[in-house]
Parts: sequence; C-alpha cells; structure tokens
Amino acid sequence: MLKRVAILANGGDVAGLNPVIRAIKKSCEVYGIECYGFIDGYKGLLENKFVRLDFNPMADGILPKGGSIIGSSTNTIVFHYKVTNPDGTVEYRDLSDLCVQNVMKDGFDCVFTLGGDSTQKSARDLFIKGIKTIGVPKTIDNDVACTDITFGYNTAVSVASEAIDRLHTTAETHHRIMCLEVMGRYAGWIALESAIAGGADVALIPEIPYDINKVAQSLQRRIAKGKQFGIVVVAEGAQPKDGTASTVNSNVSDGTGIAVKFAGAGDKVSKELEKLTGLESRCTTLGYMQRGGTPTAYDRVLSTKYGAKAMELAMEGKFGVLTVIKNGKLDYVPLEDVVGNNKELGAVEGGTKESNVRLVTMDDELVETARNIGICLGD
Ligand code: F6P
Repeated sequence: MLKRVAILANGGDVAGLNPVIRAIKKSCEVYGIECYGFIDGYKGLLENKFVRLDFNPMADGILPKGGSIIGSSTNTIVFHYKVTNPDGTVEYRDLSDLCVQNVMKDGFDCVFTLGGDSTQKSARDLFIKGIKTIGVPKTIDNDVACTDITFGYNTAVSVASEAIDRLHTTAETHHRIMCLEVMGRYAGWIALESAIAGGADVALIPEIPYDINKVAQSLQRRIAKGKQFGIVVVAEGAQPKDGTASTVNSNVSDGTGIAVKFAGAGDKVSKELEKLTGLESRCTTLGYMQRGGTPTAYDRVLSTKYGAKAMELAMEGKFGVLTVIKNGKLDYVPLEDVVGNNKELGAVEGGTKESNVRLVTMDDELVETARNIGICLGD
C-alpha cells in the first residue's frame, strides 16, 4: 500500500513537466495518497526540500503552463556532487547515501524521476541503493533509449516548425538563405522532423556529418530552377564530415556533471553557404524558445498518459522502471535497459560518460521521407 510519493524533475526544462506532475498528483488525490514534490530536482532530494502537492492550490491550473512548478536542476548528479569547501576549494562527493536517508526518514514509498538519460541513470543507481524509483522520459531532444517519444519533444518540433514558416516568407522576400539552428546535441530528431514539417530544403543532423559543398550544390540546383531562396535547418550538434561539432566548452573534464555546450553550428553553415552560393545568408538560433511556454495538445496528452502510468506502476509495486511508448503503446521497461549495459544503442560521447542516447538511424522513416522528397541531408 502506498502512503506517500514524491516527484522530482531534473535536467533542462521542457513543456510537459507540469502536466506529468499534475497527472501524478491527480491520481494521488483519487487514491488518497499523499503527493510531494522535491524542489529543484535531485538538489531538493539532497537538501530534503519538498512541498506537498495534493489538494494544494499551487498545483492547480498547471496543465497549460510551461516550466515546472517544483523547479528542475541541471548539472546535478548526487553520486558526484559539487561541494564548495569553506576555504573555497571545490570537490566532488558521492552524496547518494544522504538521499537514501532522506527518503527513508520521510517515508516516501516511491520517487518519480522526470528527466533524460543522465537523470534516469541516477534513478537506476538510487534504485539499486534502495529507493523505489520510477522514471518518466523527458527531453526535447527525444533521445532517451527504449522509448519512441519523450515528453516535450512535440512542443519543440512545433515551435521549430513555426519558426521555419516565418523564416520562409522573409527568405523569399529578400532572396536569402535562412539557416535555423535548433537544439539536439547528439540526436537530430528536432532538426529532421521540423525540417519536414516546415518544408525546409536542407536538414543537417549530428548523425550524418555533412559535406558543405554538397549542401551548396543542392541549393544551387534550386537557384538554377528559379528559386532564389533556401531554408536550412541545422541541429546544434551537426558537424562537417572533416571537422568537429561547434562547442564552447569542449575542454570540460569528465565527472563534473557539467555538460558540453554547443553553439555556432548554424552560423558556421550560414557563412559558408553565403560564400559558396552567392546568395546572402542569415542564421537564427532558436534556443530556449523550444523548451519554454505552453505544451502542445499532443504533449499534454502524452505527459498525462506518462504520469498516470507511472502512478499505476507504483501501485502495482513495479519500481526501477521507466514509462515508455513502444510501437505506439504505453508500456514500461527496466531502467537497467535504458541506461545500463544492456543498451538499446551504443554509447556515444555525451554529458555523462556513459550516455546512452537514442540517435536517428538511417533506416528511420523520417530519414527515408526526407530523402524521398529531396531534402538534402548533407551527404
Ligand atoms: O538536453 C536538452 C537540451 O535542450 C539540449 O538540446 C541543449 O543543448 C541543452 O539542453 C541546453 O541546456 P542548458 O540548459 O544547460 O543550456
């Protein structure tokens, strides 16, 4: 029998966090279970800061609201936590025992972890240490292993598609190439899907290192047919075939929990295309617009399904798992399958040493569709 459960949201925010929180809270209200939210993700779990959510007006009316009413903390790995000593020196400590103590002390029967790969890896490790965790896959990048879709992704694609529509009219008016840089450090899902939704001419994704000459040639073929403009979508992690991705802190050391920051991929492509095609080119970086604001109806429903399923699993006593959508059906898989050795896809270099992100594969329908309608993928 569950008495009290807690939710934490960790990592970069996405539209859809509040709908998941709401679904868990509402299920708790239906079944008479106390529902709490740790403030600012794993940080709140460490510092034992939480707020009661069931029947609390602060948790009312949150379905259409962006962000997270209980915050979300980035760069927080409790197994490798940054501690600043009184003398100013910095060290990294394993504070996971403190998390276990806090959960036991306050009698939480389950902790729902809303987050991406790194968050779920900690959830798996905390489960091994005795905390009953259940993960819910969150990230605009859509790159969590073992699930077809993460919440927040649909909203990001919809924001990017609208941006492409807007860039289209200005590109056409001024006979320009318009590059749009979208998020996606290792996985190009947002770039690929929004390029199709927005009718772009080129989509450059991290999974396909691009040849800038081939991109320029594809635009020149358009120009030769009388189209004096072009739309190019660039994932932030896109890289030239003979170069590297554009990052600003690639020297960040392992184990700090600090993720590598990507910036400049769109600008680089834009400048090179201007030189090679002779058309003026401009770059727009969409940035955090993709994460903020109200979730789409799709994300509201997906998040509600995920939240309700997570509570159902908790009531059935199924812990150490992640809610997923597999072949269109709501389901769950062991966290070990998501972040452990039994990886769905090979590990790639990432924010954490053992990242296990789900990349775009070359036989994906989106890749086939893009190629079939002549979208240049840079190869
Ligand atoms: O992981 C999701 C993501 O949105 C990435 O696409 C992006 O590179 C990153 O977060 C940026 O995060 P931060 O909030 O640390 O700048």
